[in-house]
Amino acid sequence: MRVIIFGASGLLGQALMREWNGDQVAGLSVEDVDVRDAVKVRAVVEKNQPDWIVLAAAYTDVDGCESNQELAFSVNRDGAVNVAEAAKRAGAKVLFLSSDYVFDGTKTSPYEIDDARNPQSIYGRSKAEAEVRLLEVLPQCCILRTAWMFGTGGKCFPDTILKLAANRPALNVVNDQRGCPTYSVDLARAIIELCRKGATGMVHVTNAGHSTWFEFARETVRSAGLATEVQPVSTQQMARPAPRPAYSVLSARSLRPYGISMPTWQDALRRYLVERRP
Ligand SMILES: NC(=O)c1ccc[n+]([C@@H]2O[C@H](COP(=O)([O-])OP(=O)(O)OC[C@H]3O[C@@H](n4cnc5c(N)ncnc54)[C@H](OP(=O)(O)O)[C@@H]3O)[C@@H](O)[C@H]2O)c1
Repeated sequence: MRVIIFGASGLLGQALMREWNGDQVAGLSVEDVDVRDAVKVRAVVEKNQPDWIVLAAAYTDVDGCESNQELAFSVNRDGAVNVAEAAKRAGAKVLFLSSDYVFDGTKTSPYEIDDARNPQSIYGRSKAEAEVRLLEVLPQCCILRTAWMFGTGGKCFPDTILKLAANRPALNVVNDQRGCPTYSVDLARAIIELCRKGATGMVHVTNAGHSTWFEFARETVRSAGLATEVQPVSTQQMARPAPRPAYSVLSARSLRPYGISMPTWQDALRRYLVERRP
């Protein structure tokens, strides 16, 4: 297979580039092509003639999106449409990375793929609108929603926690938002398998299990053998510009037809800590 990865320098992109063997994979960063540039996107897709395009490029600063709305929509929605239109012309399949933040978080059981979108943040809206537009342009595309990603090669939650824990006796972490931590390596492996199996439609992919940010931080500190105390606080006590869903656990049901089962997030975290060691 010939594959193009947009966003190859990001957290997921780097894992995809490391994990994807046996196919012809071209990784593109924003320096190679900005997804907002429809002409360049089309040219690079025409030149590479890919079977698959994995669209992992995005403006992912959730709080930054609130004050840079134009950028959020132009990259996350319009950029995605540029890629889908180029893919359509070239006859390539697309796997688009979306987010649990397309949901409002009012459910108390895992979100299924056909639950209604109701994003509360600009980032979530930009992803939700991208999903709708992509399905119009390429009804057969694969839209993969993931969540709470961590991995080496960029900023992520456990890395931040470990850096803070190294210098502080105690940390306050939010305990009223629940989601699914997801290791970039495990997600990359699932994406490769989904492409090889010709996935279409909506799919939810996260590590198995769920946690609050507090539980995730406590397990990170404990697994790293640090003595820092992790204290639970409420979202209200840690005000951020973008609202986050209180509950955004994604159901694994949509992955079952592909025969893919994901490791638990605790197992993934242990492997991440080994990978992160200098
Ligand atoms: N991280 C999470 O917790 C999470 C959760 C749910 C869904 N997702 C989605 O999963 C995908 C991958 O996330 P990630 O954490 O790997 O993101 P990331 O580390 O922020 O990487 C994003 C990538 O997109 C590139 N990019 C940014 N603007 C671009 C533009 N205008 N044109 C072309 N490339 C551009 C970045 O290039 P530079 O590095 O050069 O800026 C980078 O390679 C994204 O679609 C994200 O929305 C992530």
